[in-house]
Amino acid sequence: MLKPALKNDRYLRALQQQPVDRTPVWMMRQAGRYLPEYKATRAEAGDFMSLCRNTELACEVTLQPLRRFDLDAAILFSDILTIPDAMGLELYFETGEGPKFAKPVTTLKQIEKLAVPDMGSDLKYVTDAVSLIRQELDGAVPLIGFSGSPWTLATYMVEGGSTKNFSKVKKLMFAEPQAMHQLLDVLAESVIQYLNAQIEAGAQSVMVFDTWGGVLSPRDYQQFSLAYMEKIVKGLTKTSEGRSVPVTLFTKNGGQWLEAMAATGATALGVDWTTNLAEARQRVGGKVALQGNMDPSVLYASPQRIEQEVQEILKSYGRGNGHIFNLGHGIHPEVDPEHAAAFIEAIHKHSPQYHD
Ligand code: CP3
Repeated sequence: MLKPALKNDRYLRALQQQPVDRTPVWMMRQAGRYLPEYKATRAEAGDFMSLCRNTELACEVTLQPLRRFDLDAAILFSDILTIPDAMGLELYFETGEGPKFAKPVTTLKQIEKLAVPDMGSDLKYVTDAVSLIRQELDGAVPLIGFSGSPWTLATYMVEGGSTKNFSKVKKLMFAEPQAMHQLLDVLAESVIQYLNAQIEAGAQSVMVFDTWGGVLSPRDYQQFSLAYMEKIVKGLTKTSEGRSVPVTLFTKNGGQWLEAMAATGATALGVDWTTNLAEARQRVGGKVALQGNMDPSVLYASPQRIEQEVQEILKSYGRGNGHIFNLGHGIHPEVDPEHAAAFIEAIHKHSPQYHD
């Protein structure tokens, strides 16, 4: 299918550290419960996974934030836990409790039975959504595809859901490192195929969310998280037109490892608010673009306070190329959409002075 030309390429240009007229912006979890129209569509779908599996409705919620705000990118509406679900762990959500798996994996025997899901059947609903969103975007802004990192997926699969102390997954890692590596291997191969399927379906950039890499020691992070993300970066294929697709790695609480992350060959790194952006820029030395890094909780403050924080972050990154404005983590469900609008407006207003 012939794809329409891109009308707004600020995000892709910033990823490649090329000049832009203003700093591009999108928000992690920009489609979600802070938007009343999202809640209405989710109610229509029934539950969260039915929404992800419904091509038209997944496309609809992807586009909702773009109708409200002048954003520079769309992100596929789906979840990182689609891969373990397709592996047979049976993902479900209990209201107010976050994701859960009916069949978590804790033993080597269970891990040995896991196989890479079939992208053409088990996860076809995801690539169908990518194709439809690309078509409906009609070149307005680029579409971001995504996946969880193998380590982050493994935490949910072994713990059976969210966790505060990571006891089960760390027990497996320290007591049976071979079993852990076997799990991470099958996940890395799954993520490579998954992201390549999204790229083939039309994703113009991909992002790997390593939400839980930051709970590891530096050595364990290298071996159990970063090594597998590097494998993913190297395993991504080019588009049918022969272009390589930019890849952003984001380890939450991973600010101390930016140099090592930049050495993987990633195009950009996500940075959370616990890292100073000016220092981060200096440390990566032009090797990668940087995405971030406002604390999403600033959106609880007044529009004036939000504008002030945006100015501080723009100043911190400074003049020049390679900055994509974002929150340092997902937008909170209680945020007033008007405050998200103020955030985006402030970037539009104050960022042009940092570009020629
Ligand atoms: O950013 C976007 O707009 C795209 C959609 C997106 C979702 N999840 C939708 C979603 C993306 C990129 C994700 C990634 C994701 N999912 C991550 C990595 C990023 C991060 O936040 O650290 C993680 C760890 C998950 C796992 C997950 N899925 C959790 C912990 C939850 C529950 C969170 C909550 O707020 O209750 C989900 C469910 C989920 N994924 C929701 C959305 C909009 C909320 C579901 C609902 O509608 O109730």
